[in-house]
Amino acid sequence: MKTVLSGIRSTGHLHLGNYFGALRNFVQLQHQAKCYFFVADLHSLTTHPKPDDYLSGVKTILSEYLASGLDPEKSTLYVQSSVPQVCELYVLLNMLTYKGELERTASFKDKVRLNPDNVNAGLLTYPVLMAADILIHRANWVPVGKDQEQHLEITRMLARRFNKLYGAEVFPEPEAYNFGGHLVRIPGLDGSGKMGKSENNGIYLVDDQKTITKKVMRAVTDTGPVNPNDPMSPGVANLFTLLGVVSEPEVVAYFREQYDKCTIRYGDLKKQLAADICKHTLPIKERIEEIYNNGPYLKYVIEKGTEEARTSARATMELVRDAVGFKTF
Ligand code: TYM
Repeated sequence: MKTVLSGIRSTGHLHLGNYFGALRNFVQLQHQAKCYFFVADLHSLTTHPKPDDYLSGVKTILSEYLASGLDPEKSTLYVQSSVPQVCELYVLLNMLTYKGELERTASFKDKVRLNPDNVNAGLLTYPVLMAADILIHRANWVPVGKDQEQHLEITRMLARRFNKLYGAEVFPEPEAYNFGGHLVRIPGLDGSGKMGKSENNGIYLVDDQKTITKKVMRAVTDTGPVNPNDPMSPGVANLFTLLGVVSEPEVVAYFREQYDKCTIRYGDLKKQLAADICKHTLPIKERIEEIYNNGPYLKYVIEKGTEEARTSARATMELVRDAVGFKTF
């Protein structure tokens, strides 16, 4: 049986990118694989959030996981910082990772560009902590969006390096996974690159119908196609990408044809897009608040998951410590 693992940082609410990039794959995979899904609270510390906001942040993400269909009886749900073996493995993997390799990662370069005053070592070694998250359960598949592809390459490199250096087959080489066959990048509604928590361009699982419709209707487009052979403007291309993810193929084909004939009305496309997004998210939204307010249930889910995650992590660390040569007197 395959082992599957993924995580989402504990900042803000989950958006369509998190859902279609990572979470939805899990909801399907949990029936056929051993699944671990965690709240990446340690990764969130790179931006120094306030301690008072911590618990509500973790509860928010956990409630949104559960409302999306993660079943705690099938999947193991836990908070990253409550499995200390992750940090132990992180230290060991740091010894195998070179500064130049980390400085070259696209995510690090982006973060440095966006926050030049907070280039801390945690940011530099972010992919090593991520590798520790994955390797601690010896995962085979990691459902993530396209933005995490390079981090998976680093994880594979570290798995190979560890196995080779210590002459032991401790870690499998994990693959990034999307059940559609290719990793997705959900675009923002502002005509720019990806939808993101810090980009303020997202649609969230907690948004109501009115909010979603308003956001979609305001999305960036252009004055309309003149020659279908001209390249599509980025805003319109983004709307088609979103439509491809949330709508039926016939709906996408219909609007594509209208576009090619230069008769498309972007208002109609947006109305359809908003309605199709709502079909996916509104049933989830309905469950979020109820779960968030059910303290005993959240406590049960997290205690059960923590125990399972620690058991698996302890077993891996026994192999790791043995391979590294840590022996007791
Ligand atoms: P985070 O919180 O930035 O994103 C969580 C997941 O959502 C995906 N995602 C997207 N997918 C498609 N389109 C988008 N616009 C989009 N935005 C976000 C991300 O690819 C990710 O799968 N480092 C991770 C958290 C993490 C992790 C791990 C993931 C920590 N350790 C181990 C997998 C395995 C992150 O940045 O999450």
